[in-house]
Amino acid sequence: MDILLWHKLLEPYELAVQELVLKFQHMKKEFQDRGLYCPIEHVSGRVKTVNSILDKMKKKGIPMDQMEELIEDIAGVRITCQFVEDIEKVAQLIEERSDIEVQYEKDYVKHMKESGYRSYHLIIFYTVQTLEGPKKIQMEIQIRTLAMDFWATVEHSLQYKYKTNIPEHIRQRLSNAADAIIALDNEMSSVRNEIMDAQLSSQLQHRMVADILTAIENLYRITSRREVEKIQEEFYRIYALNDMDELKRFHTELDQIAEGYRAQSVTAGL
Ligand code: GTP
Ligand code: MG
Repeated sequence: MDILLWHKLLEPYELAVQELVLKFQHMKKEFQDRGLYCPIEHVSGRVKTVNSILDKMKKKGIPMDQMEELIEDIAGVRITCQFVEDIEKVAQLIEERSDIEVQYEKDYVKHMKESGYRSYHLIIFYTVQTLEGPKKIQMEIQIRTLAMDFWATVEHSLQYKYKTNIPEHIRQRLSNAADAIIALDNEMSSVRNEIMDAQLSSQLQHRMVADILTAIENLYRITSRREVEKIQEEFYRIYALNDMDELKRFHTELDQIAEGYRAQSVTAGL
């Protein structure tokens, strides 16, 4: 098989990865726009290189004509979460989607691999549209916490360096590190509510400030510069207080002022 055929073969896989990464990123935005806690922290994806596909075929004795069926992770999407609890939430969101057909799952979170690897895998089907018509693509979605991802990334680089023969003393260290990751994820889970609250209120404040600045900008169009300067100074004073209730009060006041000006301009126009 020459390089051009590989390129053509992998093309729909590229498309599938791009589409799903975009869709999950959009899902994250939907949570944020609704002011909701988002179980997705980061989304990435990749298509396996030809080299790595050939390696895996050799390792597992997979013939060329069964490659697409038996190598499940030619196209891979990875979703990282902040907390272990988020993994289940993300898996559920995926299962509910009508554009993704979940074939089966591999739960290496509950059943850690011997290496210490932990992650939740979904093997799915996803259909892309090509010039030759629809193509059903097999993909692997990995869902894991940031801590699990850290471990897997480091271990993967070591695998690369030592191939399959990671020295025993390093293996032991990795195993210890895997235990530390479990402890870290548990520790983080115990403060999950606090962290979620903090993130939501910071998100809320950012939106409030953005709304206030838009309102001030709009006022600038309908009233005098002096007036707007006074309002802006007042905003800086209130912002420095670091008090969400004060910001809310100011926002409401601003709405009322704007409403007043609008009423005035309507009356003036009559
Ligand atoms: P390979 O592990 O690539 O042979 O795939 P597999 O067919 O055995 O499936 P499995 O679900 O075990 O692994 C799929 C993917 O999970 C891999 O391609 C890796 O990205 C990841 N993975 C599995 N095991 C490990 C591990 O021990 N360490 C790291 N870093 N990643 C792993
Ligand atoms: Mg494996």
